[in-house]
Amino acid sequence: MKKKQIYIFANWKMYLDYDESNIFANRFSNVVKEISKEINVVVFPEALSLYTVGQVLGDVGVGVGAQNVYWLDKGGYTGEISAKMYKDAGCKYSLVGHSERRHIFNETNQEVRKKLEAILSKKMIPVLCVGETAKERKTGKADKIIEIQLRSALSGLTLNAKKEIIIAYEPVWAIGTGQACDADEAERMHALIAKIVKKMAIKANFKILYGGSVDSGNVSAYLIKKTINGVLVGGASAKFESWYKILKTAEKLNKK
Ligand code: 13P
Repeated sequence: MKKKQIYIFANWKMYLDYDESNIFANRFSNVVKEISKEINVVVFPEALSLYTVGQVLGDVGVGVGAQNVYWLDKGGYTGEISAKMYKDAGCKYSLVGHSERRHIFNETNQEVRKKLEAILSKKMIPVLCVGETAKERKTGKADKIIEIQLRSALSGLTLNAKKEIIIAYEPVWAIGTGQACDADEAERMHALIAKIVKKMAIKANFKILYGGSVDSGNVSAYLIKKTINGVLVGGASAKFESWYKILKTAEKLNKK
């Protein structure tokens, strides 16, 4: 396979509690040696189990990331957890602007920007999620919405060519619905994202992942596409058997 690195990221959302997350991490740590180094695996557990999951998986080369951060380091912000706190707890990555944050918790493009800057300032790697709703797609606005989300999050950032930024294309209508985006269309959207980012002339090392109803049956359709660097998996990443199958599929493609 021509890709140098394949990104297989697991967003556990709020699917697994503390015990389940730790049991999963221990089980996963026993099989992770079957996965080559070219496959970059990162797990995003809920906040309470993140530290112990990170201890178990860090030893075997799997990264952990936050699902969300607050942009200020410390202060009177009841219920929030800062990017700094996640960094101190061992996070190398953080999701930002996930559609569940945008649509369930009304997170705005402005807040996404502040969170992204906080993540970068702590030298963590952001996984910026962008995606259109079903209505936006039906009315022909998908491409424009993606451009607005990308521009508001990234315009004017001063970075360097080594700085890694991961963008996850996650159409809202494909998340948790079993209605995955057709791989050809995902490829077109990825090419569009690459074009927009190029136009913005931001010096950074961009990778683009697809997310939305990825499972062991469809993952290879995405991974074989040139513009798709990997996948961000939700539901299927929180069940050990399907997660294991997804990784084995990536491993097979990597060996080809
Ligand atoms: P599903 O894989 O459950 O559709 O979720 C995708 C997602 O939101 C990953 O961030």
